[in-house]
Amino acid sequence: MNVVSFRLIQIRNQEDGEYRPGEELTVFTGMNGAGKTNLIEAVYFASIGKSFRTSQTEDLIRWEADEGTILLDFTLRGTVHQLKVRLSRKEGVRFFMNETKLRRKDLLGTFRTVLFTPDEMQLIKGVPQERRRFLDLEVSQVSPRYYEELLRYSRAVAQRNAALRQAQLRGTVPDIDIWDMQIACGAAYLVKKRAEAVARMNECLADTESALTGQKEALTIRYLLNQGEGVPDESWYLEKLAAVRDEDARLCRTSVGPHRDDLLFELNGRDISRFGSQGQQRTAILAMKLAETEFIRRETGEYPVLLLDDIGSELDRTRREALCGYLRQCRIQTLMTAAEYNGEDVCRIVLP
Ligand SMILES: Nc1ncnc2c1ncn2[C@@H]1O[C@H](COP(=O)(O)OP(=O)(O)OP(=O)(O)O)[C@@H](O)[C@H]1O
Ligand SMILES: [Mg+2]
Repeated sequence: MNVVSFRLIQIRNQEDGEYRPGEELTVFTGMNGAGKTNLIEAVYFASIGKSFRTSQTEDLIRWEADEGTILLDFTLRGTVHQLKVRLSRKEGVRFFMNETKLRRKDLLGTFRTVLFTPDEMQLIKGVPQERRRFLDLEVSQVSPRYYEELLRYSRAVAQRNAALRQAQLRGTVPDIDIWDMQIACGAAYLVKKRAEAVARMNECLADTESALTGQKEALTIRYLLNQGEGVPDESWYLEKLAAVRDEDARLCRTSVGPHRDDLLFELNGRDISRFGSQGQQRTAILAMKLAETEFIRRETGEYPVLLLDDIGSELDRTRREALCGYLRQCRIQTLMTAAEYNGEDVCRIVLP
């Protein structure tokens, strides 16, 4: 899967700009504020349907304009397709694939990307939600069913919590059997798929970590259940939900399920958020992102496009060179931004 070209019309600081990345590494350089991250953001938006910088989609529309468009031509198993994202202040966002309208949930997995930005440190340092989002996005990009189940599950949890709140207000006994059943069924599916993904990621992690560091450090991910062990099944979740029902009713929340689970990243068996140095944490995240590209390739047969924003501020020269070597060897199409770049053998696009 490769980006052939992308064009931004009235997006951020771009009036109308078209870019043709190379087949492997492309580096966008330019001064601070030139609009490098804007390009990465737009490509990511065409892939995920959201920005990594803002939840206000309108922010992407050029200040002077009412509408903006992202056009992106990409190859999927050798055939070129076009994605179009129309952003409008009045009508919100619309997605089109080869001129046919797409819902966001169908967009996901169409054109696949893996993103690394300086903010990605939150994956280690941030709240569990960040780590769940990482895993959910990864699996959703290779499994539309997973994303559907995730949406259904999240709705069921929200409905259960709302029913608990209502019952508390009215002083009645909550009627939530139907939500418990939906949650138990969804939870068992999601946890199974997540555990499988974590196992597959672990198969790739040793290679990507050592490609970056040159050392045989063992980086692993562990799936942490909020309660329970192994991979609980539907009946386990049903029982557990029943057991915590009174307490949940008192606090109007749902205390069991994958929306409470977490991931633990370990380097040589030790929690990297507690014992890893800054540099080790950064490298670990990057190794995780590379493992994600490998995971996606194994699941779908094609590498996703790798988006690396401002990686120069994150990695020293040795690691950067190791990274570029790895990317070249795997031939992963990569769009990278950098204030300056002196390496050779890349497609370089300089922003004015
Ligand atoms: N909606 C918008 N309309 C017009 N211009 C915008 C909009 N949003 C952001 N900008 C402009 O885009 C620029 C920021 O671009 P961007 O973050 O891509 O820069 P960058 O090249 O990545 O810089 P750095 O090297 O500092 O990371 C700013 O100058 C900002 O004023
Ligand atoms: Mg930037």
